[in-house]
Amino acid sequence: MTESNFTTDDAGVPVESDEYSLTIGAEGPILLQDFYLIEKMAQFNRERVVERQPHAKGGGAYGHFEVTQDVSRYTKADLFQPGKNTELLIRFSTVAGERGSPDTWRDPRGFAIKFYTEQGNYDMVGNNTPVFFVRDPMKFQDFIRSQKRRADNNLRDHDMQWDFWTLSPESAHQVTWLMGDRGIPRTWRHMNGYTSHTYMWVNESGEKFWVKYHFRTNQGHQFFTQHEGDQMAAMDTDYHTRDLWEHIDAGEFPSWTLHVQIMPFAEADDYRFNPFDLTKVWSKKDYPLIEVGTMTLDRNPDDYHCEIEQAAFEPSNLVPGIGASPDRMLIGRLFSYADAHRYRIGSNYAELPVNRPHVPVRSYTKDGHMRHHNPGDPVYVPNSKGGPHADPSQVGAPAHWSATGGDMVRSPYVPHAEDDDWVQAGTLVREVLDDDARERLVDNVVGHLLNGVTEPVLVRAFEYWHNIDGDIGDRIESGVREKQSAGVKDPKADAQQNPARESAQRKA
Ligand code: HEM
Repeated sequence: MTESNFTTDDAGVPVESDEYSLTIGAEGPILLQDFYLIEKMAQFNRERVVERQPHAKGGGAYGHFEVTQDVSRYTKADLFQPGKNTELLIRFSTVAGERGSPDTWRDPRGFAIKFYTEQGNYDMVGNNTPVFFVRDPMKFQDFIRSQKRRADNNLRDHDMQWDFWTLSPESAHQVTWLMGDRGIPRTWRHMNGYTSHTYMWVNESGEKFWVKYHFRTNQGHQFFTQHEGDQMAAMDTDYHTRDLWEHIDAGEFPSWTLHVQIMPFAEADDYRFNPFDLTKVWSKKDYPLIEVGTMTLDRNPDDYHCEIEQAAFEPSNLVPGIGASPDRMLIGRLFSYADAHRYRIGSNYAELPVNRPHVPVRSYTKDGHMRHHNPGDPVYVPNSKGGPHADPSQVGAPAHWSATGGDMVRSPYVPHAEDDDWVQAGTLVREVLDDDARERLVDNVVGHLLNGVTEPVLVRAFEYWHNIDGDIGDRIESGVREKQSAGVKDPKADAQQNPARESAQRKA
């Protein structure tokens, strides 16, 4: 059987024409019942999603990361264990330009990787420079605006860029990188990538290290001079996008070797530069590069919009064995990206194939726009109905640190002398309620429990009330058991107990 190739509408129904709208007679007006025409017009009007605030112009590819050296003494993260080969998506970008802006404008380049690991997605969202312009997330928005367009004439403006930079001396290191050769890489293949931030690594025995990543290009460093960059911007706006696509298409797969700098946890306290200041590097003499493995890009996307434009990278995607650090910029970013995705793509952005982890998701989020799969019942936790429960052993020693004011922990309140979950509820029952109120309380609870609460939840409910007050617990338990023996399942079905229903039934 030959494969059919006829046009359908989005509902899969064959259409009558690709070219002619439905009209009354050859000269007559177009009819509203030409659903297909309306679908084409309406869908076209909704094709664009909001572009990324920074990093709007970019391109990407798939590849894999292969571990070549044993760094398991520093991290237990699955993707960095000896012999591991992990699939990934990368997106390169410029920062300040809009979606159609030239690839060869002077700007830092984004270097965002999504590793689809066996412990869930790990996103390393870095740049082609090892440092950044500011060190406090409070200044990031202003920094980006100073690189974008003026309010009055909608033009980019070197005056406002230098106004911001000169009033922000912490920008000096990154501005020096930017104004030098690395400000216009020849292609994305010819530049390095960095975490820039310091992260934490934790090994199997809970030992902690500070770490910075360096993805060093195996194609060699190459750059455009300002003149070459300007010429290329005029000739081929999409030069970097095209270069990456064509090389992968031709089987010339670019690769990078990942090295890390490792700082023992305790050395952060008195290292000569603040190791969490994003405007600083660590000297390679102090912390030499340690090889980890190789990233190779070997597959172009099939669908730019679905796989690159809607790719959602977020520094908060960290896997066991890798954690954040006290770098304030990084902590700001842990919030910002998922928030941006919910606005730019939609609340269920994580369900899109490109963003979905390659491991099962067992979360308790549900519903929302365009959700196409929900986890089902139970929709809450804690539950005794077979739903997932957090298993700390899956995480092992967490990547937490101490700070002035205390250690990072997940802990209940420290109980005070008289704290206990039952004591104040018991006082309420015994000392605040009068006999009538206690009676109504018992009736209400008995009615509630009889209305669909099953064993063993029911037994737990009796224990719960016994803990609050022994007498009330007895009365509730015997109230339920007596009604059950009498065959009463739902007192609301009993007209005597529910005059409103009785009256409604009478009216009906
Ligand atoms: C993109 C915020 C600092 C690298 C973005 C986006 C936001 C953002 C909102 C757009 C996300 C989207 O719509 O998909 C911030 C904030 C920062 C910060 C609040 C500081 C507080 C940095 C730093 C780096 C960086 C320091 C590099 C070390 C990137 C990259 C992208 C990006 C590579 C593009 C990701 C992609 O390809 O989709 N940033 N950013 N950002 N940012 Fe940042």
